[in-house]
Amino acid sequence: MTPALSPAQPPSETGQALVWVPKASAIAREAGACLREFFSQGVVTEYKGDVDLVTIADRTSEKLIRERLAEAFPDHGVYGEEGTRDRMEGEYRWYVDPLDGTTNFAHNFPQFCVSMGLEHRPPGTASDKDGVLVAAVIYDPMRDELYTAERGRGASLNGRPIHVSRIPVLAESLISTGFPSRKRHDSPNVHFYQEFTLRSHGVRRAGSAALDLAFVASGRLEAFWEFNLNPWDTAAGILLVEEAGGRVGDFSGGPFQLNSKEVLVSNGLIHEELVVLFKDMFAGRDLSPIPTPQEFAQRRAERAATAG
Ligand code: IPD
Ligand code: CA
Ligand code: CA
Repeated sequence: MTPALSPAQPPSETGQALVWVPKASAIAREAGACLREFFSQGVVTEYKGDVDLVTIADRTSEKLIRERLAEAFPDHGVYGEEGTRDRMEGEYRWYVDPLDGTTNFAHNFPQFCVSMGLEHRPPGTASDKDGVLVAAVIYDPMRDELYTAERGRGASLNGRPIHVSRIPVLAESLISTGFPSRKRHDSPNVHFYQEFTLRSHGVRRAGSAALDLAFVASGRLEAFWEFNLNPWDTAAGILLVEEAGGRVGDFSGGPFQLNSKEVLVSNGLIHEELVVLFKDMFAGRDLSPIPTPQEFAQRRAERAATAG
């Protein structure tokens, strides 16, 4: 059941009251405050698998979010990274990453967040099909930055509307990616990392996929890609990018799917360039040569002349 709209709720970019974001924001802020507290105290790190880390902060944050969501939205499902699988038959389902960026957190590197994305799964949605992402909240407790979105109502950062950047070419873009902690040796991503690094202003690997997505939505990055992410990493950030005017999909330019294991998002303007590069690399083709600095300068001048 959708909660009743209350006039006390903050308006969205479209001026309409938001339905889920106000309560979800309060929950994400509370979980974020709890992470901040653990971060300042320092925590013991355990191994989930060979190299996959988990801390008491991940578990405490997920427990808190699970309990608060059950109070706020009693008929909504919750699918959390640390094992929560509540009311999975529900029409609405929250994908929760209670601490995205655990490796950073465990090393005292202040780049991590809470991510909560809401999917609407109308009755009859097949279990292997996606519903529609309808709400997103990502909270970065170290910067006190709260990213929010509801479908059709725009995306915001601390209540102010955000939009993707207007950089038109990969060569002038700052982009980002990530690498799995598990089976790292199986990941082909280092090859993509090299090619994109040589063709852009740089590729960041900051260690929180949800914040990478939020940074594309807010225009701090032009694009982000990663192999083998999970729905708790992506659900919220994907809606943020869409609502901020960006483009989301898989590496071949097809639609994004929560379980597709391929995520490619951008400001839209450089998307085709990215897809062509992926296509050439997967096909093992010789890539087009990287322009010389003089050629870059000439292309910039030509673009400026066309724009002016
Ligand atoms: C990880 C982070 C990282 C990404 C990994 C994720 P976690 O999530 O988002 O940036 O590269 O693939 O697993 O384990 O810190 O929640
Ligand atoms: Ca994660
Ligand atoms: Ca996590």
